[in-house]
Amino acid sequence: MSTAATLDTWRLRIEQSLDAALAPQEDSVGGLLDAMRYSALGGGKRIRPLLTLASCRAMGGDPYAALPAASAVEMIHAYSLIHDDLPAMDDDSLRRGRPTSHVVYGEAAAILAGDALHTLAFETLASAPLSAEQRVRLVALLARASGERGMAGGQALDLAAEEGRATAETVERIHRLKTGALIAVCFTMGSVCAAAAESRLEAMERIGRSIGLAFQIQDDVLDLTASTEELGKTAGKDVGTGKATWPALFGVEASRRRALELMEDALRDLHEIGSQSDALEDLLRRSVERRR
Ligand code: IPE
Ligand code: IPE
Ligand code: MG
Ligand code: MG
Ligand code: MG
Repeated sequence: MSTAATLDTWRLRIEQSLDAALAPQEDSVGGLLDAMRYSALGGGKRIRPLLTLASCRAMGGDPYAALPAASAVEMIHAYSLIHDDLPAMDDDSLRRGRPTSHVVYGEAAAILAGDALHTLAFETLASAPLSAEQRVRLVALLARASGERGMAGGQALDLAAEEGRATAETVERIHRLKTGALIAVCFTMGSVCAAAAESRLEAMERIGRSIGLAFQIQDDVLDLTASTEELGKTAGKDVGTGKATWPALFGVEASRRRALELMEDALRDLHEIGSQSDALEDLLRRSVERRR
């Protein structure tokens, strides 16, 4: 099977897993579940779950063993987007080509849908068909990547830096935390699902950190260079809100170069590890060369 066909098959399995995890139960709170489904199943590139499956495969595991971890990281991502779009944060009305959660369901329901996706991620990990040791490890990894020393911490720094004069060091820290941590954890969680050796897991984390930073630099570049139609979210917002972005400090061209350099670093590190990494290599390129 070609790499593109493999990734299409994996994407389908990811969609099915998310849909099953969010299937209505007898005791479901209908309105809240609708809001959760709207954001978790409403499109998106699915780059994080694909990276999780590809990392498991690259470490010699069955990629589908990583499906619960893949679903869990996408649930955290969906929750982070709902909250990121709230009026109290980036105040966005368009996401994945549709109105944002709070526009459709109201702010209270959007906050709760985010909260419930957040906890469902950990319920999904805790009940995964893996060893108890693997499950505890996954819970700890995802919790750290999502919390104060990861995504939430980065979001706090991002908001604090609005309208200020962020230094290069600050912008890099924001990017590594708000986006990099959740991308990097896809590599380590995929490796845990493959029961990879500790030294290989560390190498995978390094690759994930490079790609995580590159991913947010490219997000900042696309905010300036792509259209609202292409992105499915409002283009050109970062300048208006005075966000601490990579292009604001270094310009678009230097930002593109930095993202490509980080991608090359990641590809080189991946080649050093070797073995069964075609899908992962493709995803590393897509993370930076993407147009949406
Ligand atoms: C957008 O992430 C938010 C960032 C962390 C940059 P994605 O670009 O992965 O968004 P979707 O999931 O494809 O919509
Ligand atoms: C989002 O960064 C990072 C998150 C943790 C959600 P952005 O605020 O730049 O993401 P977009 O551009 O709204 O997707
Ligand atoms: Mg934001
Ligand atoms: Mg935003
Ligand atoms: Mg952005």
